[in-house]
Amino acid sequence: MKERILVTGGTGFIGSHTVVELQNSGYDVVIIDNLSNSSADVVDGIEKITGIRPDFEQLDCLDYEGLDKVFAKYGNIKSIIHFAASKAVGESVQKPLLYYRNNLVSLINLLELMPKYGVKGIVFSSSCTVYGQPDVLPVTEDAPIKVAESPYGNTKQINEEIIRDTIKSGSPIQAILLRYFNPIGAHPTAIIGEMPNGVPQNLIPFLTQTAIGIREKLSVFGDDYNTPDGSCIRDYINVVDLAKAHVVAIDRILQDKQDEQVEVFNIGTGRGLSVLELIHAFEESTGVKLNYQIVGRRAGDIEQVWANPDKANNVLGWKAESTIEDTLRSAWKWQQKLREDGVQ
Ligand code: WQD
Repeated sequence: MKERILVTGGTGFIGSHTVVELQNSGYDVVIIDNLSNSSADVVDGIEKITGIRPDFEQLDCLDYEGLDKVFAKYGNIKSIIHFAASKAVGESVQKPLLYYRNNLVSLINLLELMPKYGVKGIVFSSSCTVYGQPDVLPVTEDAPIKVAESPYGNTKQINEEIIRDTIKSGSPIQAILLRYFNPIGAHPTAIIGEMPNGVPQNLIPFLTQTAIGIREKLSVFGDDYNTPDGSCIRDYINVVDLAKAHVVAIDRILQDKQDEQVEVFNIGTGRGLSVLELIHAFEESTGVKLNYQIVGRRAGDIEQVWANPDKANNVLGWKAESTIEDTLRSAWKWQQKLREDGVQ
């Protein structure tokens, strides 16, 4: 009997790639998604890749009764991976209450329902944003949590505390918090990938849209930082490698391998790349020249952050495998596919 995993936000960028890897590992998957930032076509894409159609419920995680019905309908949900959240840093500054309601209440609903249906554990989609600008790099899991730079980042910090306090209160569940760095790229089949609504906020989708001609030029937000080439440094992680980390985390929960009821892991490559280095790596790995200009800094950007992934490598038993060149090629192949399909 295949063990069933509930994936909230499972038609989103990281969620869809994780559903593929869960199915590849023999899990049964139920997706919940309100489609506010993704399309139900992604379910077809997942089926095309794996040959298995995941169950799909169009639902908002704010709908407690609706969630309760889904848990009752599927009966034996063993664990949850919770991706569903609003995630645009800039938008969170404009609409803080939307972010606090959406990102906090959806998690609270899930945590309340888990014991009622015997759900063993939750893998939570956290972010390196909780570290702010670390004092020491590469950053480890025990680095101090800084005052959040945005309501989005604050919701991630508060979510982690909600999970810890719930478990500390005696709730019979377990949790693994995965702090992602910068997820980029697309599935090698180019059947699923990143589909930002409107003008992309994140670097790679804007970069590939510039490369294919949708955007006239890429603006590099500042080259006057205290970094070797003056542009910001991030730890860019392949989305498929990131997806695989979730499967390892689910295995760890279901096979009772956790050392504590709540564990935290940095999911990064351990390598920092600047914006300019990434642009040059894209040009070299795809042969496509990029039109870009240096402009002023973007408010809220931190200067540099990259992971110390030792704990994930040695305790969780996961390591990023893809090269940045292959990852950038996968992003470019996805952008070209969107063009061929007349989507963008
Ligand atoms: C990366 C670098 C920009 C766009 C955010 C969230 C984080 C996670 C990933 C969800 C920065 C520069 C960008 C552009 C640029 N999201 N840039 N021109 O801000 O590191 O992280 O997305 O989990 O939580 O905070 O990602 O891709 O926006 O920016 O120069 O058009 O690229 O200044 O240095 P970020 P990003």
